[in-house]
Amino acid sequence: MVDTLVVFFSRSGENYEVGCVEKGSGRIIADSASAMLGSPEYEIVRSSDYPASYEECSREAEKERMENARPALRFAMPSMDGVRNVILVYPNWWGDLPMPVYSFLDAAGMDGRRIYPICTHEGNGIGMTDRCLKQAYPGAEVMRGLALRGTVVQGKPDEAEAALRKYLSDSGFAL
Ligand SMILES: Cc1cc2nc3c(=O)[nH]c(=O)nc-3n(C[C@H](O)[C@H](O)[C@H](O)COP(=O)(O)O)c2cc1C
Repeated sequence: MVDTLVVFFSRSGENYEVGCVEKGSGRIIADSASAMLGSPEYEIVRSSDYPASYEECSREAEKERMENARPALRFAMPSMDGVRNVILVYPNWWGDLPMPVYSFLDAAGMDGRRIYPICTHEGNGIGMTDRCLKQAYPGAEVMRGLALRGTVVQGKPDEAEAALRKYLSDSGFAL
């Protein structure tokens, strides 16, 4: 049984400010968090890929958000038995979380778990995402979060890694 699970949603392709990336910023951060903590990772992937074009992806994401959709996921759910801490890595999409993240959290059940929100963004920080999590999952403890700019993750990986290490350590994890 695992106590701490790193869960992430991240998109490769064209993105705001960073151009076309092979590895999304959240994926880079989730991989680092998993290595630092020695914890397994689960990737949230929508059953159909989002478009690689930023504009097209934005349009689809906005529509899903307006519909409060819970899109189907591609991968089977991981075992959540004994998972107390969820390190949740996701991008800020219009101030909110991408809807597939809600699909995951709904299916996993968040009551009695701690959520550590780590949000990648391009200027709006964690936005409303921590409040959205608190509202959607009142039975969970939503902990202080961390916001990381995608351009920093992609362009200054040492800086991003140091911020992540400090955040996890300040949050009480033994690294
Ligand atoms: C659909 C969409 C909406 C976005 N909305 C915002 C936003 O409201 N505020 C912001 O700061 N960044 C926004 N961004 C930028 C992403 O949060 C940023 O590029 C992030 O680092 C992407 O992480 P990823 O590479 O792991 O997918 C948006 C990006 C996309 C694709």
